[in-house]
Amino acid sequence: MDRTSVIVPEAELRRQRDYVEKLSRLHAGRQPLALVDTFGCQQNVADSQRIMGMLRDMGCGFTDDPNRADIVVLNTCAIRENAEKRVYGALGQLKHAKEARPEQILCLCGCMAQQKTVAEKVRKSYRHVDLVFGPQALWKFPELLYGVYTQRRRIFSIDDEPGAIAEGLPVVRESSVKAWVSVMYGCNNFCSYCIVPYVRGRERSREPADILAEVEGLVREGYKEITLLGQNVNSYGKDLAAPMDFADLLGEIDRIPGDYLIRFMTSHPKDATDKLFATMARCGHVAKQLHLPVQSGNSRVLRAMNRGYTREQYLEKVERARSLMPDLVLTSDIIIGFPGETEAEAMDTVSLVEQVGYDALFTFIYSPRPGTPAAKLPDPASREEKQRWFDRLLEAQNAISARRHQSYVGRTLRVLVDGESGDLRWPLQSRTAGGRLVHLAGEKSLIGQYVNARIVDSNTWALFGEAE
Ligand code: SAH
Ligand code: SF4
Ligand code: F3S
Repeated sequence: MDRTSVIVPEAELRRQRDYVEKLSRLHAGRQPLALVDTFGCQQNVADSQRIMGMLRDMGCGFTDDPNRADIVVLNTCAIRENAEKRVYGALGQLKHAKEARPEQILCLCGCMAQQKTVAEKVRKSYRHVDLVFGPQALWKFPELLYGVYTQRRRIFSIDDEPGAIAEGLPVVRESSVKAWVSVMYGCNNFCSYCIVPYVRGRERSREPADILAEVEGLVREGYKEITLLGQNVNSYGKDLAAPMDFADLLGEIDRIPGDYLIRFMTSHPKDATDKLFATMARCGHVAKQLHLPVQSGNSRVLRAMNRGYTREQYLEKVERARSLMPDLVLTSDIIIGFPGETEAEAMDTVSLVEQVGYDALFTFIYSPRPGTPAAKLPDPASREEKQRWFDRLLEAQNAISARRHQSYVGRTLRVLVDGESGDLRWPLQSRTAGGRLVHLAGEKSLIGQYVNARIVDSNTWALFGEAE
């Protein structure tokens, strides 16, 4: 993609800010309330924070109550059928709020909205939705919303665009401790089961200077944990004029002085290099934590998934990473029941999970996504069968997680306290440098700080500690 057509020109961004101005005047005299509901991954969470930034600049306050909201935004996810069902459920419920408040504006955005079939269904069957726009149109939200207000008609902005980069959008960060920073957008990998490349456009990297300035600003404001986001951060920089890869970017960020940790996700194993592992090992600000989704432990299935590595190549990468970072916290995503997967192949995944010994797993049963190559493959295994394989996988991982967590008991670890838990015995929540959850006994005043925690107990999902 030509860089000049990727970066949204300043004049366009100014035009959008003008619409923000106009919208704030539309509401003069009374503060409108907005509700933003987010489904899906961290990229969507980060996008919602930008949408909230634009809404705030339009003069909006925020509410959780759809019956009080003047503007409702559903930022949706299309990764599995269940994610879509939840959104349709939410849309159904919102019908009542809209009936009671006909002037309410209902917006549907995010990955689901970018699918033509979804947009058609919403156009016909969810007539209370006023505005539909995909992730590529996010930065045009002010103009689109202004159109709905002034033209009093439904607007659909779901053109199949390769996508752009809009810098400097306003943002409302919901925490003062943790922040998300997108380093790139889109995906070019086309894993055969995955909808993301169809709804998020082509891979495009932000300029390193813009990323560095954003991280520097966050560190200055006191943010302690900054997570760099991209569908495959290891593709970072391929499209930049001055070549730079993700490891180089991490190295540059690491030079920013301050007391903070850098995390990142997601790393595609096919592009995870020794250089990346060595950079992680060397950089003091970079958490020794790697989310390296394997998806399957069987090489035939991996080929059918178009993942670009074999079981053996994946295991080699894990070994290299661990040899450079002995304390590495390693997590993964797994799909069980890919079309045509046999029981023996699914059990190869269980054996890989046992061999690697992940700290935690995100596990999914395959869900066909219309329009992807895998959705056209024969899929003879029954849902019940897949569920049995899935349960075996969970059982294996639960035992591993429990064992790994148990090994922390008695140790003292530096943790970042990031919020309250609501539990009387362990009122605080915190994370280790490797990202493990620690329920903590301690004073509320510790929120936002690094403390030393003595780990006194553990279970499959978390650690329990006392602040020292
Ligand atoms: N870019 C990330 C993944 C984003 S989607 C990566 O490549 O790792 C998060 C996870 O959802 C994927 O890793 C995969 O495990 C799961 N997933 C994606 N499509 C799916 C589908 N059709 N059915 C079930 N799980 C799916
Ligand atoms: Fe989907 Fe694969 Fe891209 Fe991840 S790398 S978003 S799984 S296509
Ligand atoms: Fe879902 Fe889109 Fe993320 S499909 S997982 S919200 S990129």
